[in-house]
Parts: sequence; structure tokens; C-alpha cells
Amino acid sequence: MSLIERDLAVIWHPYTQMKTARPPVPIVKGEGTCLYSEDGKKYIDAISSWWVNIHGHSHPYIAQKVAEQLNKLEHAIFAGFTHPGAVELAERLLAILPANQAKAFYSDNGSTAVEVAIKMCLQYWYNKGEQRTKILAFKNAYHGDTFGAMSVSGRSAFTAAFDSLLFEVEFIDLPSADNIESIKSLISGMRNELSCFIFEPLVQGSAGMIMYEAAHLNELMAHCRQEKVLLIADEVFTGFGRTGKAFASSHVQVQPDIMCFSKGLTGGTMAFGLTTCTREIYNAFLSDDRMKTLFHGHSYTANPVACAAALASLDLFLEPSTQENINRIADNHRAFAAKVTGHRSLKTTRQTGTILALEWETGNNTSYFSSLRDKLYDYFLDAGIILRPLGNIVYILPPYCITNAELDYIYSTIEQALDEI
Ligand SMILES: Cc1ncc(COP(=O)(O)O)c(C=O)c1O
Repeated sequence: MSLIERDLAVIWHPYTQMKTARPPVPIVKGEGTCLYSEDGKKYIDAISSWWVNIHGHSHPYIAQKVAEQLNKLEHAIFAGFTHPGAVELAERLLAILPANQAKAFYSDNGSTAVEVAIKMCLQYWYNKGEQRTKILAFKNAYHGDTFGAMSVSGRSAFTAAFDSLLFEVEFIDLPSADNIESIKSLISGMRNELSCFIFEPLVQGSAGMIMYEAAHLNELMAHCRQEKVLLIADEVFTGFGRTGKAFASSHVQVQPDIMCFSKGLTGGTMAFGLTTCTREIYNAFLSDDRMKTLFHGHSYTANPVACAAALASLDLFLEPSTQENINRIADNHRAFAAKVTGHRSLKTTRQTGTILALEWETGNNTSYFSSLRDKLYDYFLDAGIILRPLGNIVYILPPYCITNAELDYIYSTIEQALDEI
């Protein structure tokens, strides 16, 4: 039996309608920007494997650090115990995050990083004896697939089967010059009930790479701070260079109270999650009363191998050449967007840093289930490029090591698709 046949016999894939999906591509090797299938076909990973891979696949430096760690300590319980990697990673990350971030709480993925953040906020007010249980979030937000993370995400096809079970959230529009004052007064109207505001800073990824301005986010954050609404920046997607700066929060002046990370944290090597918070939040859990403890933890919290991967990824991220590559990708994206703007098949383009989104003209409104999506996906896959459109929105989000030649190949294939599809 082939690997595909064996897969289809036993595996249930994520976000996949198993009845109609095309068979999975069997990948056996990764190197640099590319993934290689069993039959030797090369695929440029233009979406960094669901946005996680920032330094290229099977990076030798990360591999070496992970191997060294595996031979020293593979895992240790993190309640009552610690280890050098967890401490060093927290020290080094807190040093480059907004200055108010003081404590690091580890978990397993982006959704758990968000769950921890929500629980920190709700229990912060509980511990202080204040009844603030409402949460504010953006319409069309995506914060993950666990129940808390789903609750603070926009209601959509993804959540439909569970909507009646999700907790209530106040959803607001993305801020713009036209609506910012009305959003601010809405928030003020709920000022004593709101515990926190969770947001994807600058770019709503899953919603279709929807972008909004840093100045408006900053104003909204400042208003929330004034109304004592805690601020959770979900940087699971935007963290580690995606938006052109180290963190999307680096584009605003107001510092969030809590930040969530995953995806690029280990350079795409290991599942890992991190939630950081201010000393003020941490202090609200310090007490002789054990009921004020944050009762949250996962078996693999602060896994030493994941910490080693994250430390190695951070070493690479802080090399000046990485920022140069980020700038180079952003420049290339800008030039390509300018070139294709006005094409009859294109509704619009938008870009933030290394993220370029191209919205295909459909004549209708955008939908995740647009049939165009499958056509485009297959077209690019056949051309040896992994692009996974969100409905009619094609986005490029490459590992930072991508070459100009690889970018040019992606751009020219997209141009062909614009002419042909
Ligand atoms: C902004 C944001 N938050 C949270 C998540 C959930 O992360 P994970 O898939 O690791 O659970 C995602 C995943 O795409 C995301 O984009």
C-alpha cells in the first residue's frame, strides 16, 4: 500500500472534508523554503506551513540544538521543577517584548496560549473581587479552536455547530477614522463589566488577511486602558517578524497587558505556546489564599526540547540578516502588488510586512467555501507552490529565507493564474 492509501485508511486531517478533499501530498523531506514529496516533487512552501516556519525547513542550527537537548533532558514536570532552557527563553524573550511584560507562562500551541490569557484576565478580576466577566473582541477574529478561543473568535462556519455553547462576547468592528469614536463610547458604556479586550494586532489572519491601521489600534488600546479593560495582544500569527517589525505590538505605543505567542516561536519546529503578562496581573494571583492560584497547566508545559527549538529560532531571528530578509520580502511584495494592481481578475491587494494578500474578483462576496478557492489551490499545487487561499483571497507568507528567484516564480505563477482563472 502507498503512504497515501495507508493515510486514508487511518487518518482524519484537520480542516478537511474527508469525503471530497484531494488525497494528501506525502511529504518526506523539508529543506529551506521547500518541501519534497515521496515521488521527488518539490513544493515551495509559500505559506510557511500554516504560518509557523520562519527560517526554512529542517534548519541545521535548530536541528543541532534540538538534538543536543534530546541527549540531555527530554522532559521534566514543570510544577515544582524548572530547567535552564525555560528560564533562559523567558529571560531573552521578555528582554525584547514591550517593557511592561514581566512573566512567562508556557503551554502547547496558539489556542492554549489564548486560553491562558483569557483565564488570567477573568481570574485577575475575580481575585480582586470585581464582577467583570465580559470580553471584547473584533468581529471576524480568529483566536483558535478550543472552546474559550472559539468563544472569543467571530461566529462563522467554523463555530456554527457550537455557537449555542460558546460564552457571550461583545464583538466590535475593526477601528477606522469613521467609527473609532462610536466604538470608544460603546466600550465606555460597558466599562464596569468588561474584563478584557483580545485582538489580533494589525492583521486578522484567518479572516482573510484583513488589515487595519496601527494608529487606530493604538487609540482603541489607550481608551481600553483608561477604562481599565485589560489588553490581550494575540501575536500567535503576527509575532516574530511577520508584520515587518519583531512584533505587531512594536507598531503601537500602548503596551498590552498580556501577549500570546506560538507558530514562529520555535521557527516551526515544535508545538509550543507562550503567554506573557505584566507584573500587575501576576501580582493579583499572589496570596496566602490558595484559591487565588492560576489553576492551569499542561503535561508538556515548558517542554525542554521545545524550549531548545525556541532558543535556537530566537538566535536566528536576532541575526541582522533575518531583518534584512524581512525587509527584502516586504519590498518584493510591494513591487509585485504595484505591478498587478488594476488587473481585471483582481479586486484588491493589501500588505503588511511579509504578508501579501490578493483578493480575486468573484462578482460576489468573499466566502471561505468559494469554488474558486479549490481551483486556485490545485493550480498552485500543480505548479509546485503551496498557497492555501482563504476563499478568494490568495496570500503569500513565506519563510524569511526565501530567495528572490523563488519569490519571482510565485509571483509569475500568480500572474498566470490571474490571466487564466
Ligand atoms: C491569531 C491566532 N491566534 C491563535 C491561533 C491558534 O493557534 P493554534 O492553531 O496553534 O492553536 C491562530 C492560528 O491560526 C491564530 O492565527
